[in-house]
Amino acid sequence: MNDTTIKTPYFMIDEQKLVANLDKAKQLKELSGVKLVLALKCFSTWGVFDIIKPYLDGTTSSGPYEVKLGHETFGGETHAYSVGYSEQDVLDVADVCDKMIFNSQSQLAAYRHLVEGKASIGLRLNPGVSYAGQDLADPARAFSRLGVQANHIQADALASVEGVMFHMNCENKDVDAFITLLDSISEQFGQYLDAMSWVSLGGGVFFTWPGYDIPKLAAALKAFSDKHGVQLYLEPGEAIITKTTDLVVTVVDIVDNHKKTAIVDSATEAHRLDTLIYDEPASILEADEQGEHEYVIGSCSCLAGDQFCETRFNEPLNIGQRLHILDSAGYTMVKLNWFNGLRMPSVYCKRGNGDIEKLNEFDYNDFKRSLSQWSVS
Ligand SMILES: Cc1ncc(COP(=O)(O)O)c(C=O)c1O
Repeated sequence: MNDTTIKTPYFMIDEQKLVANLDKAKQLKELSGVKLVLALKCFSTWGVFDIIKPYLDGTTSSGPYEVKLGHETFGGETHAYSVGYSEQDVLDVADVCDKMIFNSQSQLAAYRHLVEGKASIGLRLNPGVSYAGQDLADPARAFSRLGVQANHIQADALASVEGVMFHMNCENKDVDAFITLLDSISEQFGQYLDAMSWVSLGGGVFFTWPGYDIPKLAAALKAFSDKHGVQLYLEPGEAIITKTTDLVVTVVDIVDNHKKTAIVDSATEAHRLDTLIYDEPASILEADEQGEHEYVIGSCSCLAGDQFCETRFNEPLNIGQRLHILDSAGYTMVKLNWFNGLRMPSVYCKRGNGDIEKLNEFDYNDFKRSLSQWSVS
């Protein structure tokens, strides 16, 4: 299959780039003894799990269907966490997970009896410190509902669990900043951690970023696990799939209203939602910031402010031309939606040997089915 003949929009996951990230994950594991579970909330395109499985220890999840998916398609250790479980969720999940992490002491008290003897039970703690660029994504933000605050811990609740989970980083590329958080956790919660058998430090540690000091991170993790006598886990999502995937689109129109806008056959609101939520412009492979032709790369949704980015090109853009929107794997395919009835991007993988494999494609029936399956009689 030749990628120029694939109908846009589509995602192309590059195996070689994925394996480059996974090699760094392997190095981190070997140096530190940490176990790594893939955060399915970030990336759950299970069609490429065969590539990832040899490198990671399992999956972690944020809702009951992710737990089931991790168990079915990835295997290894399946960690289940949810900000809020219903009783039915707990019943469904307890049989397929290895670790069940509750977000609050009230959920722990209500459901522990349903999990005992089936999975190792944990509790999420909130360290009150974090590294997160935006308040929206900051687990330690004011009035946070994510985990138990240090001054709310009931000693008997903690005594009844085998492990705890912290998550306080978002795209943290600074190893020293991470170590400062680790020290704070050790200082605040050390007395409890010493009694645990496992501790998860969550996701958001960007150890695959170019130049990241993996040996320094590994040494800090190893010292922490030795000090408290615990098996450590990290829950990487973005770090695993960063810079592996393009969203390939076609320019369908060019309009001019004081600025030129190239409208493409995709929309951030439907296919790359975090561009919109976090106001983080995308990057385009074909662009050149020194180029003399400036364009807004506009979405084909009806939302007035829906655009991928503003950037420059060496040559004027043409209708029919393809553009590659870079780094489009994390928190994209898991958030795809049918807004405006746009064509859903298909999903492909470019294998290490150059072969291109189709993982998914969608059609009008998928759109229709997502809205109703039956009509009133
Ligand atoms: C509890 C938890 N674990 C892991 C992750 C994955 O984070 P990332 O994709 O930034 O590594 C998140 C992201 O929000 C999270 O909330």
